[in-house]
Amino acid sequence: MFEINLSATHSAATGTLEHYQTLTSQLTALTAGEPDIIANLANISAVLFECIENINWLGFYVMKQGELVLGPFQGKVACVRIPVGQGVCGTAVATGEIQRVENVHDFAGHIACDSASESELVLPIKQNGKVVAVLDIDSPNLSRFTELDQQGFELMLPLLESLNWEMYAE
Ligand code: SME
Repeated sequence: MFEINLSATHSAATGTLEHYQTLTSQLTALTAGEPDIIANLANISAVLFECIENINWLGFYVMKQGELVLGPFQGKVACVRIPVGQGVCGTAVATGEIQRVENVHDFAGHIACDSASESELVLPIKQNGKVVAVLDIDSPNLSRFTELDQQGFELMLPLLESLNWEMYAE
């Protein structure tokens, strides 16, 4: 059985690009050869939630029949369905762009699942140019996610987009 070496993951200072690169390598090894998308998203959520500081929710919403539906995550109970164009996640789908929100209370239409959330980063995951899912990360700190954090999470996109999204690609 593959076991992720969290001490190696922690060896680079958290929040540096090196740390995000190490995490990406660990996630690549963790998911290698496993075709089950739910299992992979569940393990990715677990690793990232454990290894990234100052976050209170991290997980995936997947596109099903034209709307986002809650997928594997770590954190408090969350809203199950988000229409495209609504909230930070739905905006990421509608625009196809990463959403980095310094203060969620200033974001028109923000959907408050956990009242502790103050800032948020949402990355669209695409197949053939079409969004199939988003990775949503929430923090209890204002302006938690810097440009560097965004770049760090962007390093993970090739891996996330290489997973087996067949059952969600419409
Ligand atoms: N805040 C998100 C909804 C998802 S929860 O944060 C888990 C949004 O506005 O899309």
